[in-house]
Amino acid sequence: MSYVKSALLEEKGFVILDRYDQGADPQEWLDLEYVEWKSSGDTRFAPLASAFGEIEVNGFWNHTPPRTDKDGVWIDSQVAKAPHLVQRAMEPGANVGRCRVIELQPNDYANTLYNLHQDDNNRLNPDGSGWIVRGFFNLTDDAESFLTLREDRFNPSSEIRIPLPAGAQIIVDTQRFWHAVWHKGPAPRYCLITSWESGPELDAYIEKHHGTNLHENPYLDPQVIADAQADVQRRLAERSASLASRGRPDDHPVDPEA
Ligand SMILES: [Fe+2]
Repeated sequence: MSYVKSALLEEKGFVILDRYDQGADPQEWLDLEYVEWKSSGDTRFAPLASAFGEIEVNGFWNHTPPRTDKDGVWIDSQVAKAPHLVQRAMEPGANVGRCRVIELQPNDYANTLYNLHQDDNNRLNPDGSGWIVRGFFNLTDDAESFLTLREDRFNPSSEIRIPLPAGAQIIVDTQRFWHAVWHKGPAPRYCLITSWESGPELDAYIEKHHGTNLHENPYLDPQVIADAQADVQRRLAERSASLASRGRPDDHPVDPEA
C-alpha cells in the first residue's frame, strides 16, 4: 500500500491553478477572529475549521485523541463571517482538515530562508489513504511577494518562487517542500490555507481550474541569494551555540508547525 497522490502534484510537488477574481468578493478576512500563533514569521491565524470547532489552530495530532489533518470541524461564528472563503475551501469536495486565514507581517528574504520548514500534515494518516496537501489562496494583492519552496532546504538551486497577486491559487505538498513566504509588504498579507486530502475529487478540481506545474522563477540577484544563505547559516550556528550553552539539543532549528 501507499498513499493516494495527485499525478501533477507528485511530479513537481506543486500545482498552480487559474487565478481567482478576488476583487469581486468582500474582504471577509478582515472580519474574522484571529489568534496569536507564531509560525514562520510574525503571524496570526483565523481558523475556519479546527480540530473540534474551537477558535484555535493547533495541529490535530496535538489534541485528544490525536488524529491526522482531516475532518476539520467548521467554526460557526467564523463561517458566518466568511461564506465565500468557506465555499472556496469546500469546492473541491475533498476532505478538509485545518482551514484558516494566515496574517503575515512583512519580512525579508533572509528571514524567509530562516523560516523554511516542512509541514507534518500526514502524521497519523494511514497508509492507503489520500496524501494531505495544502491550498494557498492569496487574498491580498502581493504580486512582489513569493511563496518560496525548496526541495533541499539549503540548496538555492532547488528554489521555486511563486508570485502572490490577489487571487493566486497554488496547491503544495508542504510535507515535501521546505516552504515559507517572502512578503515584502508594506501591509500584512492574508492567505487562505486549506488542508485537503488527495484523491479523485481533488484531481477533478485541479483539472477544472487548469492546474499546471509549468513555472518560471522571477529573477533574483545571485548576490542577494548568497548573502541571505550566509545570514541563515550564521543565525543557525548562533542558535545552536546558544542552545548548547544551556545544555539543550538543537533538534528543531525552526518551528516545524505551520
Ligand atoms: Fe507550513
